[in-house]
Amino acid sequence: MSENTWAEVDDYLAAALLPPDPVLDEALAANAQGGLPAIDVAPTQGRFLHLLARIAGARRILEIGTLGGYSTIWLARALPPDGTVVTCEYFPAHAEVARANLDRAGVGERVEVRVGPALDTLPDLAGPFDLVFVDADKEHNLDYLEHAIRLGRPGTVIVVDNVIRGGRVARATDDPRVEGSRRMFAALENDNRVDATALQTVGVKGYDGFLLAVVR
Ligand SMILES: C[S@@+](CC[C@H](N)C(=O)[O-])C[C@H]1O[C@@H](n2cnc3c(N)ncnc32)[C@H](O)[C@@H]1O
Repeated sequence: MSENTWAEVDDYLAAALLPPDPVLDEALAANAQGGLPAIDVAPTQGRFLHLLARIAGARRILEIGTLGGYSTIWLARALPPDGTVVTCEYFPAHAEVARANLDRAGVGERVEVRVGPALDTLPDLAGPFDLVFVDADKEHNLDYLEHAIRLGRPGTVIVVDNVIRGGRVARATDDPRVEGSRRMFAALENDNRVDATALQTVGVKGYDGFLLAVVR
């Protein structure tokens, strides 16, 4: 099995399960136009996050790592009319592209984009959030998990993306992004505040995976 097969199957699944979505296509095009890296979640994963938010009945969602707002659109669309998303982004240029994408997608009014290092903007937030999606600088995954728990309530769903990194997570490494996830997994060994699992994934974005946790 090669990366080509994973991508081919992802395309097949997306064609079968995801309706054509010019708004999301436009958002990705705007990201490319704005020079943003193509590190958004895959379409099937965006849909997964969307379904998860609906299953959880989420009304307040926190996202850490906005980029151009592709995953934010998926999440915002899962909300009831009075629901809100707060999304944190380091770079003003990314946030600007995201704001335009969110407005064009018709969800701008229910999304607040907080600009700056998330470790600076998160402490001012008050919970509870019903779902937290962590997808920023992987070095700080443990800090973000701590904030997610602080800002959660029993039942809050937490997803932390890119925690497998081509399988490198299983061994100590000098890659700070892998070590960020390893620190998080080590902390979870003795953490009785959440129930968690992690799933490995393959697809158009390669071999990776995510942590899924629920606050007790
Ligand atoms: C993987 S991308 C997010 C992709 C987005 N969730 C999506 O799927 O469309 C990670 C984003 O996190 C942002 N980021 C990196 N470090 C950050 C920090 N310390 N605080 C807030 N955002 C940060 C990056 O600038 C980048 O836009």
